[in-house]
Amino acid sequence: MLDDLATLDRIDQHGTRRILAEFPTQCRRARTLAATPPPSGARPRLVVVAGMGGSAASGDVLAACGVDRVDVPILVHRDYGLPAAVGRDALVIASSYSGETEEALSAAQTAIARGVPLVAITAGGALAALAVARGLTRVMLPTGLMPRMALGYLLLPALAVLRGCGVEVATAADEDEAVETLEALAGALSFERPAADNHAKQIALEIGARVPVVYAAGPLAGVAYRWKTDLEEFAKTFALAGALPEMNHNEIEAWRTPDAKGLHLVLLRDPAEPPEIARRYAVMRELVEPAAGGLSETWAHGRGRLARLLSLTYLGQWVAYYLAALRGSDPWAVPLLDEMKRRLRGGSP
Ligand code: F6R
Repeated sequence: MLDDLATLDRIDQHGTRRILAEFPTQCRRARTLAATPPPSGARPRLVVVAGMGGSAASGDVLAACGVDRVDVPILVHRDYGLPAAVGRDALVIASSYSGETEEALSAAQTAIARGVPLVAITAGGALAALAVARGLTRVMLPTGLMPRMALGYLLLPALAVLRGCGVEVATAADEDEAVETLEALAGALSFERPAADNHAKQIALEIGARVPVVYAAGPLAGVAYRWKTDLEEFAKTFALAGALPEMNHNEIEAWRTPDAKGLHLVLLRDPAEPPEIARRYAVMRELVEPAAGGLSETWAHGRGRLARLLSLTYLGQWVAYYLAALRGSDPWAVPLLDEMKRRLRGGSP
């Protein structure tokens, strides 16, 4: 069914697959978007990416790239306001594709009230209006995407802003390699490539009707979480995500339940993972795989960490897309999420 373009057309009413196919091009375009007016360039002591959902995911990638490369902590703040530790020597990046997300707007207002340098990354809305009114540094993104499909636009300008402030979490060469890796993957995962030769379609078929449980280790843990949220939003399924080694100390016990047969393990592996993590995966497979309904294991592509993070994230988006198709759900629409926002704005039930 995943190879039948007429069926995909019927379910995918908004052409989501074309937007996914263009993700590498989006990343290339994103590298040309400039921050205006240019940021002050002062090196922050702390970086905070404030955003929600798809717009917070760029922060997870920045933090994972920076964790053992820069001496500046990068926090992702998914809430109203800002942590008390965020003062004038920090940099806040307010990240909201729509520019209408309450929590991101609240963080931006808090940064302004505390005198914290603030950069807005958005396609419009109240965040863009605030940035213009206050003369804040901003990166204006092209409109018309779902936020979760705009990771290139949300991420690459943020990398450039940080580089401009002396916080180089990824070099221009890392970005080149990441985009080339995505370009190579795009053809291999696209809807035109039959399931027999398409890793994303294969994983979606392996998951089938089960609940996916996605694990990754260390700096890739955020990618497991991103798979979970993409599976939820594209395919409207429950999904779990966990991080090694932490889940070996708690969640592993949950696999003793007979219900585990309804779960599908997805292991996101990193060719650069240290031997102690590889050993944990091997023991976990001995202990957990027999209890699970099924298992898919997949490996990141690319040399640099940015490429490895983005290649696995991109694979996850396609898996979520194909799972949506298998379950007959339009991968674009998020009606409950929209309804939640509408009611919070004062709309009636
Ligand atoms: C929808 C999506 C959501 C949004 C979130 C915040 O595609 O991914 O998770 O990202 O509701 O909205 P924005 O990104 O507009 O700030």
